[in-house]
Amino acid sequence: MLRKQHVPWNAAGAASEEQHSADEVVRETGWVFNNVVGSELTLADFVETGDQETGAYLHAFGLWDDLAQPDQAIVEIGSGIGRMTAGLTRMFGRVYACDLDPAFLERCRETVAQFGRPEVLQTCRVADGRSLPVPDGAADLTISYITLQHCQQDDALALVHEAIRVTRPSGSIALNMRTWIARDIVLWPLGALTRALWRVPGLGTWLARRRFSTRLGWQANRLSPKDVLPGLDGLKEIRVFRSPKRRPFGRTDAEEATFEGINRSHWWLVATRC
Ligand SMILES: C[S@@+](CC[C@H](N)C(=O)[O-])C[C@H]1O[C@@H](n2cnc3c(N)ncnc32)[C@H](O)[C@@H]1O
Repeated sequence: MLRKQHVPWNAAGAASEEQHSADEVVRETGWVFNNVVGSELTLADFVETGDQETGAYLHAFGLWDDLAQPDQAIVEIGSGIGRMTAGLTRMFGRVYACDLDPAFLERCRETVAQFGRPEVLQTCRVADGRSLPVPDGAADLTISYITLQHCQQDDALALVHEAIRVTRPSGSIALNMRTWIARDIVLWPLGALTRALWRVPGLGTWLARRRFSTRLGWQANRLSPKDVLPGLDGLKEIRVFRSPKRRPFGRTDAEEATFEGINRSHWWLVATRC
């Protein structure tokens, strides 16, 4: 059965199919990726934001120099319409762009055709929301940004294991997750109610296309390092990156570090594959 937290992504994917140009897609559905709205937005601006964020994170995690080589491969979990993917195809020799929604993957191919190198792109549909159709050890780096928070909790954890599986020995993973903040006392129950309403025939379809409802309901889990790290095998040099505005997680099984660019509610698991 379709998971209810897939509803807004499939609704946005369907909305993206109704637009005539890539710039219109960004104006109509781009906000689901980077929360920026405006009547002047273009696909070029959108890709530029992806390039900036990719560079900032890879530098912060110390991965920029070692990775991003023309003969290396990257797996991106949750590519959307290619905001970051286009830049990744300019940096890597092979890019596996994985997403739940086939319409997003179609748009991702268009974005890469305009702003990247389509010859190195392979799009991969994550049909069940938890398994990557990518061979073992295919990637030098596996990255995921603002995606795992949108999955049912056990799917997010399954995707973390998948990230380890598809990364070669001595390769790296960099996975972004969303944890608890004080405002979740209100946001969490409202989100659960919203996801339940998406299942109501008629009303659900209408609601799933509304920005207010999507923003309330789309963060379908909260995962802290204590929920993720104990179950993991096959990783070494484990680092947890958080915002300097939040207290340390107090892990003894990972080195903790901060980076200004990280949202207070987010953290990153950065590690090397054994
Ligand atoms: C907020 S967007 C982020 C896209 C991209 N990383 C970016 O920064 O522009 C989240 C993406 O995750 C995808 N997604 C949600 N659940 C997923 C799952 N279980 N497996 C794979 N992709 C998923 C959505 O379809 C959407 O494209």
